Amino acid sequence: MATTNLKQLQQRVDELTQQLEYHNYRYYVLDEPSIPDVEYDRLFRELQSIEAEYPQLRSASSPTQRVGAAPLSEFKSVQHVLPMLSLANAFSKDDIHDFQKRIQDRLDEVNEVEFVAEPKLDGLAISLRYEKGLLVTAATRGDGTTGEDVTQNVKTIKAVPLRLHGDDIPSVVEIRGEVFMRTKDFARLNQAQLEKDEKPFANPRNAAAGSLRQLDSNITATRPLSIYCYALGDYSGTLPEKHDEVLKLIQHYGLPVCPEIKTVIGVKGCINFYENILRKRDQLAYEIDGIVYKVNSLQQQSQLGFVSRAPRWAIAHKFPAQEEMTQVEAIDIQVGRTGALTPVARLKPVQVAGVTITNATLHNDDELQRKDVRVGDTVIVRRAGDVIPEVVSVVKEKRPANTRKFVMPTHCPVCHSLAERIEGEAVIRCSGGLFCEAQRKEAIKHFASRRAMDIEGLGDKLVEQLVDENLISDVADLFSLKWEQVAALDRMGEKSAQNLINALQQGKSTTLPRFLFSLGIREVGEATARTLAMFFGSLHAIALADVETLQSVRDVGPVVAQHIHTFFQQAHNREVVQKLLDAGIHWPVIEVSAKQQKLNGKTIVLTGTLEKYKRQELKELLQAQGAKVSGSVSKKTDYVIAGTDPGSKYEKAQSLGIEILNESQIEALLA
Ligand code: IVH
Repeated sequence: MATTNLKQLQQRVDELTQQLEYHNYRYYVLDEPSIPDVEYDRLFRELQSIEAEYPQLRSASSPTQRVGAAPLSEFKSVQHVLPMLSLANAFSKDDIHDFQKRIQDRLDEVNEVEFVAEPKLDGLAISLRYEKGLLVTAATRGDGTTGEDVTQNVKTIKAVPLRLHGDDIPSVVEIRGEVFMRTKDFARLNQAQLEKDEKPFANPRNAAAGSLRQLDSNITATRPLSIYCYALGDYSGTLPEKHDEVLKLIQHYGLPVCPEIKTVIGVKGCINFYENILRKRDQLAYEIDGIVYKVNSLQQQSQLGFVSRAPRWAIAHKFPAQEEMTQVEAIDIQVGRTGALTPVARLKPVQVAGVTITNATLHNDDELQRKDVRVGDTVIVRRAGDVIPEVVSVVKEKRPANTRKFVMPTHCPVCHSLAERIEGEAVIRCSGGLFCEAQRKEAIKHFASRRAMDIEGLGDKLVEQLVDENLISDVADLFSLKWEQVAALDRMGEKSAQNLINALQQGKSTTLPRFLFSLGIREVGEATARTLAMFFGSLHAIALADVETLQSVRDVGPVVAQHIHTFFQQAHNREVVQKLLDAGIHWPVIEVSAKQQKLNGKTIVLTGTLEKYKRQELKELLQAQGAKVSGSVSKKTDYVIAGTDPGSKYEKAQSLGIEILNESQIEALLA
């Protein structure tokens, strides 16, 4: 009886494993998922729970075993059965002609040679060893002979199958490739590093290397690593005749191969490919530093053999570098559309990857201080894809005497309003808001938008026209616009002009929450505007409130309170608001009522990954119903809403006996 049960369970485990592997492949290798994430998670959890109850059914290559391994104290070393070689470099077309000539001479060949042209990925080389179809070792290149065992880390890369696909798999299959990080993933990771006050990575290559060489694979699991494979290593099967067939075979085994790869003929084919990819370089989702040309015929490859540690049958044709050295001539402050003050290095012009760079961002004050960039410094600048060029680091040895640390200004260089840094935020912002020219157009667009004052017909283009023609300089000026002025604008009909004037007239009748929201005070969204209006009842009361009083409003924390307070402290903001009221903007009086709110006065804590809602969304939903959403669990907590993988908050809630709800339960409560 027990054995049949176990047998059935084993069958289910196999089924689930197969399905999960298949969907992993669809998602991470083919980029064509065929089931929603929630369904995947459901299958995954089912497997997890069977394995938890019957550990004897858990195999090392189970999809559940990608994460959770204990941290290592050091990496073991791995001897490569076949050495991992490097490539000779070529920098010009001439170098490629010489390369082809050497090959033809050695092969005694008159015809042009067939090559496979592959993007040279900028990451780090890895060797994946499969025995009887199962991934047993993943090793870095190291010195080419001995690498490091990073198996636990590589298992967290979902595009790497833990078991090779297909039947008829040779007992030993070693697949080699490059682990890298996509440009977008890199940008997101660095953004997160900055937000956590951690050091950002200099480039995707460093980020990939740093992530793969973590002793704790649980950290690697959070890093968005990708892989493309490009060769076989040790292999007990029969090799195909050509390298492009090897690549197909690798794909059949279920591993990703770069989709740009092409088989080409002769130098001409190589150069064509090179130029095509170079043109597309900025649009590729990952960074490459050149093209590798490989002789296609494996028989020819073995005839050609090796010189020192590089094959004679392959060469890397390098692209122009993405990092160069230059000098900082000045550091200026740019004011963005949201008022963020960004330090920008003005550079001695330098060519980086085919483009002349004269400016590079220093991101924010923290980054600037961390890198300690000074006027006069020699710096390394980097430009990749359509990302804004940035200063990577200072070459300290080249720093001239008498340089000084850069200090951020205390006032906005555009409108001279106070520039402030809110605690816990990396950016320094101009508090000029409606008044600051740098923020003007955006402020007016926001003011007129549907969820704010909802002025029909006043779209982004028209706002730009009105500002550019000097007809308005703040939102209040909108209400003194004359029909003749509007009708005289380019591409504006008499009828539309009249419609706009009418819409503005109608727009004067609004609500206090809308009006508050339309002012564009930082972090005051629609929900906050509504609670503020309900709490204070009048604009006047909000404008006069101090930070402490503002904080006593349900969803107003210290940061928002500070933003609101600063906004109304600025004389020019008060002037604009007064001008608006003088123009006749009005709203019905508010009667503060908390009774209708379903969660009035309840304190709620969120934990874990939510499926249906973004955390912020759910937070706002709850707050709109009168709940206070808190970051930590205490005796005062009424409910904890738990998603998947909840953290310590979950345990704490359990120990305090606090009611724990899942997403559907909270939905039911709100309904
Ligand atoms: S083939 C025998 N192909 O470049 C040749 N390498 O300088 C072995 N790389 O360590 C390498 N993309 O990390 C090859 N399509 C590609 C490549 C590639 C990137 C890296 C790899 C290797 C280094 C050699």
